[in-house]
Amino acid sequence: MAPETYTLRWGIMATGGIAQTFVKDLLTNPAIRDVHDVAHKVVAVASSRSKDSAVSFLDKVKAPEGAKTYGSYHELVADPDVDIVYVATPHSHHFQNAMLVLEAGKNVLCEKALTVTASQTRKLIDKAREKNVFFMEAVWTRYQPLSVKVREIVQSGVLGPVHRVIADLSFASGKEDGSLTFPNDHRMVNRDLAGGALLDLGIYSLTWVFQILYHLQPEAEKESPKTVAAMNQYETGADESTSIIVQFPKHKTMGIATTSLRVPTNYDASGSLNPAIRIQGPLGEIHVIGMAYRPTAYKVILKNGGGKFEVVECPVPRDEARDGWGHGMFWEADECARCLRDGKKESAGLPWAESIAIMECMDSALRQGGVQYPELITTDVYDPQSPLNTGGR
Ligand SMILES: NC(=O)c1ccc[n+]([C@@H]2O[C@H](COP(=O)([O-])OP(=O)(O)OC[C@H]3O[C@@H](n4cnc5c(N)ncnc54)[C@H](OP(=O)(O)O)[C@@H]3O)[C@@H](O)[C@H]2O)c1
Repeated sequence: MAPETYTLRWGIMATGGIAQTFVKDLLTNPAIRDVHDVAHKVVAVASSRSKDSAVSFLDKVKAPEGAKTYGSYHELVADPDVDIVYVATPHSHHFQNAMLVLEAGKNVLCEKALTVTASQTRKLIDKAREKNVFFMEAVWTRYQPLSVKVREIVQSGVLGPVHRVIADLSFASGKEDGSLTFPNDHRMVNRDLAGGALLDLGIYSLTWVFQILYHLQPEAEKESPKTVAAMNQYETGADESTSIIVQFPKHKTMGIATTSLRVPTNYDASGSLNPAIRIQGPLGEIHVIGMAYRPTAYKVILKNGGGKFEVVECPVPRDEARDGWGHGMFWEADECARCLRDGKKESAGLPWAESIAIMECMDSALRQGGVQYPELITTDVYDPQSPLNTGGR
């Protein structure tokens, strides 16, 4: 007899850009990615603006009939049919919004950057532990087959011990007059919404540094890094270019994570000029090609390889029955389903301790770069009636 499929029932908090992308992935047929043990159902969507936004969201993603719509986040977390809430608000809001969900005793998948401060991350994790619920930072890159494969190659030892990882995620977003393409109130540069390159993009550069240099450290030898950072600030006071050195002195390893809103990772989209990520050991290196959040290919270049290497393409499968959709976020959703099915509270792909270590690194970088965010979004005191929870703009 075929094993039963476990179906996870999702509630979606917010109706912006990434919520649409994620939900369209949830609605694809898992069989397109050869997944048969878990499946997903969107049972409710909430918008802090109005119920109408939630209705039009379901229309945009062509959701099947039956999902409920709410005009407040409070109603969503009270819905008994929701197993897990996907928090897709700006990162300024994540602490208050995710805490609202946890306090309601529900499981959470929360978009990156997980919070604005490390203290907020620690409080969320403490609450998840207290409520005995699942909690995961939505760094989808970790669950993509390319990442899994690259980690396996590193662990195979073919490069020797990896000593250095260099990773970048940058977009050229400058205009000729020196301003950026985002208006100053846009969440990319608005400090009220925790804007800046690091929390939005640099987290992916750090993801590559951490998933190789920290994640693969043996459990008994886990070492949090020392962080040295420099930032250039935009006129709004948010960081527009950031470089971080992430040092693990005991392991003698070093990561260099960069991000910028001024220059792109690569002027050549195919990535032939310059890999987004380099993972280097004494016997060779891996180049990861494409954008750091969803790379498209990798190559392993060995010292004794005679100059020959193979480019391994890793395409994202598409669902022809859903307009050819497939973005690559479904693998992290599958991870949530498997964890909940198996009674796990955290994902082995990105354990709680690692989310804290990354957030501490970003905390330190922001401090060194002199970027300051307002009290409303940095407080680690939960307030269910915070404007961040009630749709105050
Ligand atoms: N994983 C990825 O690849 C990826 C990609 C892009 C963004 N993200 C992350 O996802 C989060 C949301 O990004 P996004 O691009 O979806 O942003 P967005 O398009 O601006 O949407 C954010 C949504 O949050 C809700 N919201 C609540 N209070 C808000 C406020 N004061 N201002 C603006 N929006 C508010 C709104 O939905 P309602 O009005 O319906 O409540 C809004 O539509 C960010 O943390 C970002 O870092 C992740």
